[in-house]
Amino acid sequence: EKQGFRHYMLKEIHEQPGVVRAGLASFVNEADRINLKLPDRILDQIQNVQILACGTSWHAALVGKYLLEQLVHIPTSVQYASEYRYAPPPNLPNTLVIGVTQSGETADTLAALDLAKSRGDRCLGITNRPESSIGRIADSILDTQAGIEIGVAATKTFMAQLLMFYLLALDLADRHQTMPPDAIKDMVIGLRQLPAHMERILESQERYIEQLAHSFTHTRDFIYLGRGVNFPIALEGALKLKEISYIHAEGYPAGEMKHGPIALLDEDVPVVAIATPGKVYEKVLSNAQEAKARDAQLIGVAPLEDPVANETFDHLLPVPIVDEILSPMLTVIPLQLMAYQIAAHRGLDVDQPRNLAKSVTVE
Ligand code: M6R
Repeated sequence: EKQGFRHYMLKEIHEQPGVVRAGLASFVNEADRINLKLPDRILDQIQNVQILACGTSWHAALVGKYLLEQLVHIPTSVQYASEYRYAPPPNLPNTLVIGVTQSGETADTLAALDLAKSRGDRCLGITNRPESSIGRIADSILDTQAGIEIGVAATKTFMAQLLMFYLLALDLADRHQTMPPDAIKDMVIGLRQLPAHMERILESQERYIEQLAHSFTHTRDFIYLGRGVNFPIALEGALKLKEISYIHAEGYPAGEMKHGPIALLDEDVPVVAIATPGKVYEKVLSNAQEAKARDAQLIGVAPLEDPVANETFDHLLPVPIVDEILSPMLTVIPLQLMAYQIAAHRGLDVDQPRNLAKSVTVE
């Protein structure tokens, strides 16, 4: 069942290149044209998007917001489903509401989507379980093609949700003509190249991360920093570590550090920074250097090729350089591996962490 892997989580981390290939095969044709197989009444004339989700799916939604706002210029809000259901934002015309849930059974997400539906919004569900309850509530379902996930910590389903947001944003960018067709095609080609990059990360880093994990067996707190499209990945890295290793971890937008959290830093609080070339690269590196000046151990998810990154970080988890906007699909992988290895070293039940269930079917 685990095909030689020690845990389902590790197996599912390794399934991610295949999941991306499957998603692309389902929704992109040979001429690199996207077809999400959704009715036009779902995607036409959208003026606003509201995304409802919990946990890791909420992090995928934050990447989705970045894409929809930056590539399609559609105002997008991301709500915790448990908050939306008791305090929905004002009802706006031509709003697409998207519920994102791996299991399709999360009680808060279902109730929130049901509320959106009763308010007359069109509702799209993004899930890898189209046969689940969300299939009955949403007007349409986008099946992420990730299949069933067994480890409680979401990994491959997160990756598949990310891919759906890229494809959705590019499809809408085409409809709204906010990107030239060539730029859309280039990004699709960039997406096609990701699985091979992912395989390289998995092959080249597993041993190193396993060894690195030894040094953090007794660490009590971690800080994760990211900016822009990688801010949600900082949140996701911190959540993965918390839920399976029981180490306290916080994700912050790197620029917020100096507004309080920097007071937490000393030699006992390692900082993980996601720094990929693009708009905010130098900013993140300088935020990381500020952390280093407080004696924090620095771990960088950054390109191998850059001497500045090499010099800045005590430990480098290298990722290949790709278009910045596509980088989350790579930067999350070393963070998943690190959380996994630290938890495994601590001898914890990685696939079934304490107090957690795969689907949270109660409010
Ligand atoms: O099934 P869902 O995607 O709706 O689940 C939402 C959260 O419960 C889930 O992502 C949770 O945070 C995971 N254990 C994260 O790894």
